[in-house]
Amino acid sequence: MKDWWKNSVVYQIYPRSFKDSNGDGFGDLQGIIEKLPYLQNLGIDVIWLSPVFDSPQDDNGYDISDYRKIYAGFGSNEDMDELIGKAHEHGIKIILDLVVNHTSDEHAWFVESRKSKDSKYSDYYIWKDPKADGSEPNNWGSSFCGSAWEYDEERGQYYLHFYSRKQPDLNWENETVRKEIYDLMKFWMDKGADGWRMDVIASISKDQSFPDYPKTDGRKYYTGKYHSNGPRLHEFIHEMNREVLSKYDCMTVGEAPGSTPEVARLFTDPEREELNMIFTFEHMNIDRIPGSVNRKWELKPFDLRDLKRVMSEWQNKLYNKGWNALYFENHDQPRVISRWGNDTTYREECAKAYATVLHGMQGTPYVYQGEEIGMTNVQFPLEEYEDIEVRNAYQDLVVKNKTISEDDFRKAVWNKSRDNARVPMQWDDSENAGFTTGKPWFRLSDRYQEINVKKALEKNDSVFYYYKDLICLRHEEELLTEGDYQLLLPEDEKIFAYLRTSDKEQWIVVANLSEDTVSTEGLAKYVSDKEDIKIANYKDRTGIKADLRPYEAFMMRIR
Ligand code: NOJ
Repeated sequence: MKDWWKNSVVYQIYPRSFKDSNGDGFGDLQGIIEKLPYLQNLGIDVIWLSPVFDSPQDDNGYDISDYRKIYAGFGSNEDMDELIGKAHEHGIKIILDLVVNHTSDEHAWFVESRKSKDSKYSDYYIWKDPKADGSEPNNWGSSFCGSAWEYDEERGQYYLHFYSRKQPDLNWENETVRKEIYDLMKFWMDKGADGWRMDVIASISKDQSFPDYPKTDGRKYYTGKYHSNGPRLHEFIHEMNREVLSKYDCMTVGEAPGSTPEVARLFTDPEREELNMIFTFEHMNIDRIPGSVNRKWELKPFDLRDLKRVMSEWQNKLYNKGWNALYFENHDQPRVISRWGNDTTYREECAKAYATVLHGMQGTPYVYQGEEIGMTNVQFPLEEYEDIEVRNAYQDLVVKNKTISEDDFRKAVWNKSRDNARVPMQWDDSENAGFTTGKPWFRLSDRYQEINVKKALEKNDSVFYYYKDLICLRHEEELLTEGDYQLLLPEDEKIFAYLRTSDKEQWIVVANLSEDTVSTEGLAKYVSDKEDIKIANYKDRTGIKADLRPYEAFMMRIR
């Protein structure tokens, strides 16, 4: 099928935490192979594999030192060939993570680049002289706190790194760099990879005047717009499409922080020949205070109206003009039911309700490992966190600048840290949740005996089977792929409801995202012809009339 990714559902695997096959406590490719039948049973079409390439693991593999070699902790290149082959046998495609805004500082290119100002590799990265007083070239800050510049004694210059100092940014202005990247993409696509998730792809083109941020509040370093959507971004992506993507039947999704729906159209309008879809951050930022010195760690209370406004805007503005990537969770985000819902009394209802909202929309839905069984956030003592983002933020904000108290920071980490999604997958209730027979690389959630795959498979109304039904609907119901979108009750603080309409039929998608019982009065007028329930998380739901119970959700054909 042309555009097969439009009615596909993607499942993201974070390999180090998915399944360990050899008892070293670290997930691996053979572990994934073992679980292919499980994924086939769930019904997903595509696996997105977070990076599995050689890496010092400073940022858990998003710091690659060899793009053509599998990291030994995950297995070998032969294991990767086997995984691609076996996934295909199970009817599952595989997309890989293309991390080419930066490499590891241990990549051979960088090792050579830092040696001298006039070798083949000198301009592979972004090098700048210190200012006259020896300070950084400008006031850009890293996403992981502190300066985005690191002074290199060997070369006598600063290099740019928007992430950790072990992740130097590549210089996309250099044509040879771009060619190297296109070659490595072909290397994996010729081995059968079915496409790419592109890490912070919106950041590859930098403003070549490297301007300072205006100093607004006495801060030393600033982050934001110079990270994203630079002047040559779309030219580069179009070139990548022409040189590589157009030659394969593949799917592409770009990670695009800072993008608006207008930018998403530039990326995804098929006529522009760039990418199939991008991940927006706009809905993920609704519980964040814009411009806060404490960044994502300063919590803003969740307001459902914001979520509806942002998601609806993306639905409407991309309709017939581009394509949406739909997600609530990934390896950088906490669990949605803990973040914006209820992960105790109504854990299963809530997981199904958020899933209904997401999978009812137009776009390609993404399920992050464990989301399909309603896994929850964790609350560990601060010193047990593994993520470099948490560790750096603690040093910078709590210890050094004292802009946030330790208590508030801990609360924010419990709510938002990336490690919430990175604890090992919960397969069963045995020791270490069946993730490993050894010592796990990271602590498990305390709730694995209550929440695990084995239990979910044994219970016929579990979150797992609800996802399975949703995925089935995505495959069978053209309306979900093609229909347009209309938000209902935009000001309602508890109900998320919308219509999907094609020339053949109309559906209503309804979710009560609260713990209260609420009336459906405001919705009844949209339902007159038909009341044909397509999916519901309370089995006795038959029509629109009855009140919505806590986290009740359904999709119903109404015309
Ligand atoms: C986005 C990735 O999703 C995240 O995990 C990583 O830390 C940064 N990009 C840097 O590669």
